[in-house]
Amino acid sequence: MKIAVLVSGSGTNLQTLIEQLHQDPGGGIAIAVVISDRPGVYALTRAERAGIPTRVVKTQDFKSRVDFDAAISREIEQAGAELIVLAGFMKLFQPPFVRKYRNRILNVHPTLLPAFPGAHPVADTLAYGVKVTGVTVHFVDEGVDSGPIIAQTAVPVLDTDDEASLHARIQIEEHQLYPRVIKWYAQGKLKIEGRKVNVTA
Ligand code: GAR
Repeated sequence: MKIAVLVSGSGTNLQTLIEQLHQDPGGGIAIAVVISDRPGVYALTRAERAGIPTRVVKTQDFKSRVDFDAAISREIEQAGAELIVLAGFMKLFQPPFVRKYRNRILNVHPTLLPAFPGAHPVADTLAYGVKVTGVTVHFVDEGVDSGPIIAQTAVPVLDTDDEASLHARIQIEEHQLYPRVIKWYAQGKLKIEGRKVNVTA
């Protein structure tokens, strides 16, 4: 199965997908393209080093966000990707894009959703004072981090945590969970009924 990975930043999740999926010869999952909305981010370097085609699609180059989404869609179709994997991609898609790829877009988010959606989830977690947080992998719907939840892993919040230390421990779990969920998807193990996603044996 070919996947497209969308990034906006440093790409540590992309790196684990390269190592655990793309470079697993028997795994049957190939990253066909890495698309960034920001030029020059380190995720693009990681992709180039692995010999994976990269594209940069910037919102500023388009009249509207629908046009921006359409340009991303063209890159996905050209690459022949069946699944869209958001890995630190910090733009929201408009409804037509979400409808076109319903149940074919995955996102990883560094909280236990529905707690702390949005752009500053780890800072919001610390500010609220919760004792347990974690990682969520979910399908993308029209809302902000609101789509059907596939899998979650809990991470304790320590009294000594700052944003960097907590995010680093959450990312250790992201790097385990995200490749596992993508393998389930590729193996046809995810059954979606409304908001519920079951993983079949
Ligand atoms: C990850 O922690 C991911 O959960 C988060 O951005 C980080 C990207 O890190 N995504 C979101 O907050 C999405 N709402 P990476 O570039 O090192 O993979």
